[in-house]
Amino acid sequence: MTEAILLVGGKGTRLRPLTVHTPKPMVPAAGVPFLTHQLARARAAGVEHIVLATSYLAEVFEPYFGDGSALGLHLEYVTEEEPLGTGGAIRNVAARLHSGPDDPVLIFNGDILTGLDIEALVDTHESTGADVSLHLTKVTDPRAYGLVPTDPTGRVLAFLEKPQTPEEIVTDQINAGAYVFRRSVIDTIPAGRPVSVERETFPGLLAAGAHLQGMVDSTYWLDLGTPAAFVRGSADLVLGRAPSPAVPGRCGDRLVLPTARVAPDAKLTGGTVVGEGASVAQGARVFGSTILPGAVIEPGAVITDSLIGSHARVGERSVLTGTVVGDGAIVGADNELRDGVRVWCDARIPAGAVRFSSDQ
Ligand code: GDD
Ligand code: MG
Repeated sequence: MTEAILLVGGKGTRLRPLTVHTPKPMVPAAGVPFLTHQLARARAAGVEHIVLATSYLAEVFEPYFGDGSALGLHLEYVTEEEPLGTGGAIRNVAARLHSGPDDPVLIFNGDILTGLDIEALVDTHESTGADVSLHLTKVTDPRAYGLVPTDPTGRVLAFLEKPQTPEEIVTDQINAGAYVFRRSVIDTIPAGRPVSVERETFPGLLAAGAHLQGMVDSTYWLDLGTPAAFVRGSADLVLGRAPSPAVPGRCGDRLVLPTARVAPDAKLTGGTVVGEGASVAQGARVFGSTILPGAVIEPGAVITDSLIGSHARVGERSVLTGTVVGDGAIVGADNELRDGVRVWCDARIPAGAVRFSSDQ
């Protein structure tokens, strides 16, 4: 049985303030910590042993997931004292693997929502005899990713992480953050120092003549590294566009968790999720948004493509679009917040303080 490593130690800087108190993989998407979806999908593909490589806010993973038995998994946790980077993190957990030298080991970035056929990636790896196999996807703007040009047989020609110049943008195929490593290749990564698998290990392997195989597909794929992407991903899980066995309820226009309170005339659409103990008052409209546990949406508020942090409050008639409200923050009544605004945790915005228009 193939085992897996999940990389969950990043700081999630681009997701702040969501990641001030919570590491990125533990922020709820469609009602459960995002990581639950990845774990459940790996389990459904037959993976039973998963090692979590933790660093930032490492202490919150184990109390929640424990030994993994609730998900039918055997989970282990390895924490880096200083972040070791993606490659260093993989090397650092190698002692926990049971695989033999030629066995395949799955590795996942901890912030990817995807319909990847995990078994197909392992099959590709086995049938091509590659040292490392990578899931690749095509995106319109590849600059924020690792570019992976391949030859007609799918063999990787180069690995260009976060290209800086237009000449480096040689393909629209990017590293989708799921790999199969031959176990013995993991043991060649230097131990005890930071290593980037993208900037050091992959280019080094290619230079040494190793066989890196790409598997391109067009399945659902999203890196949840930014607030807009996170909100999109959560809504897609609720809508059933992104496949996960871990959505706690039936897929549809909305997901209201037990103990949430929603007024009969409040309107929830577009994959909105309302978390435990949260409330949405009369006349409020919420589209494509994530309302985290304990948050309060007051009467007549209109919230679109936004994330409202746990125990935060959005005042009467306030209109929020493309906004993140941090945990415990209070947005007073009659505010208008738009596109990319991040209200920090526990901040207070007085009533009527922010507008984008001159009307009442
Ligand atoms: N344990 C540990 N230690 N994990 C880490 C560390 C570390 O020092 N640094 C990052 N990670 C984890 C993150 O938590 C995340 O799950 C994963 O490694 C990738 O880090 P990101 O910070 O999300 O990287 P990225 O999104 O900029 O780029 C990566 O993902 C892209 C696809 O989304 C790269 O792998 C790109 O090549 C790729 O295209
Ligand atoms: Mg990422």
